[in-house]
Amino acid sequence: MADMEGLTEGKHYHLDKPQATGGFFLKGCDSLDWGMKNRLARIFNPKSGRTVMLAIDHGYFQGPTTGLERVDINIMPIAPYADTLMLTRGILRSVVPAAYTKPIVLRVSGGTSILKELSNEEIAVGIEEAIRLNVCAMAVQVFIGGEFEKQSIINMTKMVDMGNRYGIPTLAVTAVGKDMARDARYFRLATRICAELGATYIKSYYIEKGFETVTASCPVPIVMAGGKKIPELDALTMAYNAVQQGAAGVDMGRNIFQSQSPVAMLKAIKAVVHENEKPEKALDLYNTMKREG
Ligand code: R5P
Repeated sequence: MADMEGLTEGKHYHLDKPQATGGFFLKGCDSLDWGMKNRLARIFNPKSGRTVMLAIDHGYFQGPTTGLERVDINIMPIAPYADTLMLTRGILRSVVPAAYTKPIVLRVSGGTSILKELSNEEIAVGIEEAIRLNVCAMAVQVFIGGEFEKQSIINMTKMVDMGNRYGIPTLAVTAVGKDMARDARYFRLATRICAELGATYIKSYYIEKGFETVTASCPVPIVMAGGKKIPELDALTMAYNAVQQGAAGVDMGRNIFQSQSPVAMLKAIKAVVHENEKPEKALDLYNTMKREG
């Protein structure tokens, strides 16, 4: 027990300074509970309000994707340079050391493969697993306009209900079918539906025309999806445009781990996302770091 001797009554009440009530730094997230906000504050950098997520969950429907054949060898050395790691529970348990303390976004929908209709997903991970694995968010694919649109939306709302109960954010991942138009109208529809139905934040693709109307009409944060590998300058430009037009960061996979220097690419993307570095300058940074190994 604390020594009672010499105990003095507190007197530093700072009566001239009312306690700050400051709002939470992420759009649309101020009325969330403390645990939820704390998890979001680990995913998103509170200073920049943005995140660089490294997505390596591809195997859940397409097996060992190029660059992810050996996550232990290819990904674990670069993972500390990302703000957040997005992956499946299988890879988390089998490959990621428990001493890895960066925030985890856990893929919780699944049940389909590239050999069949992808939108036919179910919830493939229970909330207890998410809690047990101490994750910072759960990712669910939502197929607006897809064959199993309703099922995928209900997968998301179920995770939102469970996540809200235990303070774990839900990331809605908008998936675009092959024959759907990738335009502002589609992404406004898809992201807004996810937000209206409770997603904490949303992963969506960048589009050249009207991306700012997608972020403006979505009341919660959007992180930009990466997509297939493109030249480094193009990927950096896409990330730059997305954050300048309202995205709260990026969630990229192949454009990082399929790059010739994934660490240099992560650092260059972080400069663009957190420091508003221009794409050309970020490419210089990439080339220099790549040369230096
Ligand atoms: C998207 O549908 C999945 O989450 C992917 O497995 C992954 O996140 C895609 O990342 P990227 O397109 O940047 O390689």
